Formats: sequence, C-alpha cells, structure tokens
Amino acid sequence: MTQAVHAYYEQGREHDRLREGRGRLEFWRTQDVLRRLLPPPPARVLDVGGGTGVHAEWLGADGYEVELLDPIPLHVERASRMAGLTARLGDARRLPVPDASVDAVLLLGPLYHLTDRADRVRALAEARRAVRPGGLVAAATINRYAAVHDTVYLGAYLDEPQRQAAHAALAEGIMSSPRGFSAYLHDPGEVPGEFADAGFPDVRQYGLEGAFWLYGDVNDWLDDPQRRQLMLDAQRSVESVPSLLGISGHLLTVTRRDG
Ligand SMILES: C[S@@+](CC[C@H](N)C(=O)[O-])C[C@H]1O[C@@H](n2cnc3c(N)ncnc32)[C@H](O)[C@@H]1O
Repeated sequence: MTQAVHAYYEQGREHDRLREGRGRLEFWRTQDVLRRLLPPPPARVLDVGGGTGVHAEWLGADGYEVELLDPIPLHVERASRMAGLTARLGDARRLPVPDASVDAVLLLGPLYHLTDRADRVRALAEARRAVRPGGLVAAATINRYAAVHDTVYLGAYLDEPQRQAAHAALAEGIMSSPRGFSAYLHDPGEVPGEFADAGFPDVRQYGLEGAFWLYGDVNDWLDDPQRRQLMLDAQRSVESVPSLLGISGHLLTVTRRDG
C-alpha cells in the first residue's frame, strides 16, 4: 500500500462510505449477493480488507464467525469495538491464517489497492490457500469505466484535472484522485484471468450497482424501504448480464475452491 493510500484511510473517511448516500446501494447489493452464496451460519468468514467492519457487522449479526483483517490500524481499532467479531492487522498477500481454515474469504477492497497484477493474483492465491475445499471466495473490483461515469455524475468532469484523471484511468487502469486516493480499475473481462492464475478456473460475476448508481434520484429510491427493495430486485434481475457488467461502479467476482 502506498503512503498516500495509507494517509487517506488514516483520516477515518472510510467508516461512512457505505453507510450513507448512494454508497448504500453498493452495500445492500453486496449483502444481497453474499447472502445467497455464503454457506449457512455458523461458518467461518475471513473479511480481508474489511475496513471498519461495515460488512463484518451484519455477517456477525447473521451468525457468522467473522475475522476481519486490514492493514490500517485505525480500521482495526474501530472494527475491534464491534461485538461478535475479531479484528487484527493483516495484508491480503500474506494471510496470517492456516491452510483451509475458513469457509469463505471476502476481498471487498484489497484488489483496488494492489496495482501490480502479480500482487492481485497473490492475494487471490492466498484466499485459495486459506479457504477449505468447496469454500467460497468473493472479490470486489472497481470497474474501469466508473471514473468517467462518476465524474460526470458528480459534475467533477467539468474540472480539467479531474477529467484528465478519469481518462487516464480509462487508458491505464490507475485512478489517482486529488484526495491522494489511488486505485486500480478493472475491465470486467480481465478479472477471470486473475482468478484463473490464482487457481480458480471458474467464476461468476455480479454487477453490484448496475446503472442505478448513476440515476439522479437514486437516494430517493434508497431512502424509501419499498422503492429500495424494488431497485435491489431490478438490479438482481440483470446482475450477471455480460453486456451490463461494466456499467456498475463495482463488480463482485465469486468462485469456489475445488475439492
Ligand atoms: C475501499 S475499502 C473497503 C472496506 C470494506 N471492505 C468495504 O467493503 O467497504 C478498502 C480496504 O482495503 C484495505 N486494504 C488496502 N490494501 C490492502 C491489502 N494489501 N491487504 C488487505 N487489505 C487492504 C484498506 O485498508 C481498506 O480498508
């Protein structure tokens, strides 16, 4: 992790990212997909790059035995305050757990920050080592096209440096924001190759937000429980349509370790 990314997360801005605004769409959709795929509780879930525990919290409440790992001390400290989970410092490339010791490994963030392909494959191979045969591995990626879509949505596209940064992300895959946050943005089509090189030949991909994160009134839909459920159902109905995968802000790629 670069110093800039470290400094960004040490500002404590991650805690509310998925808990408010349209970030809630990513949160609820991640939850919707994972609840369908995880083994029934109780089962052991390793939440790698779990941040301050936004997913660990509901997983624990659902009855899972969750261990969260994150390289940022502030994140680990905040997550440790939650009941029903353990949290400690750790890096996705060197998981501090025995072979085949968990039922599921979640990588909901680390791949954004591993800008070298070899590091991303190493993180996935570590997940493969840690999970039991038949267990689930799920990894989130940011879509290559998210920067252009999001900067237009936010109006930041009117600003020349931000427009250039979005186009650099399109061309090279690396998004550097003025806030010092840098990330690797994947084309959906390149993710299965990284999984395959880590020993996972078969994957399924889920678009998390679909086009809905780009709707001007997305928060109105999310604020109203009935409309929210309809929006989640709508996205579920098209979540794995190949031609739509790249429109989401985030993609979830899921596989199981062979026997
Ligand atoms: C965008 S946040 C996502 C947090 C949370 N999982 C979520 O879905 O909201 C990315 C997280 O990955 C962590 N991270 C970055 N590099 C990592 C690495 N090499 N190994 C494990 N976690 C890493 C960051 O500290 C941060 O908490």
